[in-house]
Amino acid sequence: MSKKTKLLFATGNAHKMIEIREILGTGEYEILSLKDAGLKIDIEENGSSFEENALIKARTVQQATGHAAMADDSGLEVDYLNGAPGIYSSRFLGEDTSYSVKNQYLIDQLANAAPNERTARFVCAIALVTQTGDEYVVRETVEGEIAHRPAGENGFGYDPIFYLPDRKMTTAELSAEEKNALSHRGKALRKMKEIIEKNALLCSDTAVEKGGVS
Ligand code: IMP
Repeated sequence: MSKKTKLLFATGNAHKMIEIREILGTGEYEILSLKDAGLKIDIEENGSSFEENALIKARTVQQATGHAAMADDSGLEVDYLNGAPGIYSSRFLGEDTSYSVKNQYLIDQLANAAPNERTARFVCAIALVTQTGDEYVVRETVEGEIAHRPAGENGFGYDPIFYLPDRKMTTAELSAEEKNALSHRGKALRKMKEIIEKNALLCSDTAVEKGGVS
C-alpha cells in the first residue's frame, strides 16, 4: 500500500500551521506539525539570518526523524530602526511580552519619523531538507509601513501595525485568504511548492523510521 510522504513543519505556532496547510495542503504529502508528530525538540535559533535559522530548524527535525522537514523563519524589519526587530522579532522585548505592548513600543519608537521613514517589511525564509538530506531555501518579503495605531483583529504578532498603503489597511484587517495571497510566508511557501513539484522532491515514502513519527 502506498503511503503519503510525511512532511514535518518545524513550528509550534498554530497560526502559521493554518497558513501553511492552506498553501501546501493540496500536495501529495501529509503535513505534520511537531505537535502532530509528537515531537518535542528545543531548537536553538542561533543563526545570523532568516535563511540560516530556517535551515537550522529544518535540519534538526529531519535528522531527528528521517522524514523530510520544512521550517520557516520570519520577522519584521523596520527601516527607521535599522532593520530591528528582524531575526529577533519573536524575542523582541521578551518572548512573553504581549504583542499589544510590542506593537505600541514600535509605534512610539517612530514618533519622530517622517511619513516616508515608516517603511518596513515582513521577511520569510523557508527551508526544506528532504529525506535524503538535500537542502533548499527561499526568501520572500512583503513591503509596507508601520501604522500610526494598531488596527484589525486577524492574523497574529505584528499584523495590527503592518500597514499596506495600496490596500489602505493593516494585514490584521485582511482575511486569511487575502493575507496568504500577498504575504511574505504565502509567497515563500508557493515558491517552495513550485520547487518541490518541479523536482518531484516529496514523491515516495522511503523514510527511515526514527523518533516519534511513524
Ligand atoms: P519565528 O517563529 O522565529 O519565525 O518568529 C517570527 C516572528 O515574527 C513572529 O513571532 C512574529 O512576531 C513575527 N511575524 C512573522 N510573520 C508574521 C506575520 O505574518 N504577521 C505578524 N507577525 C509576524
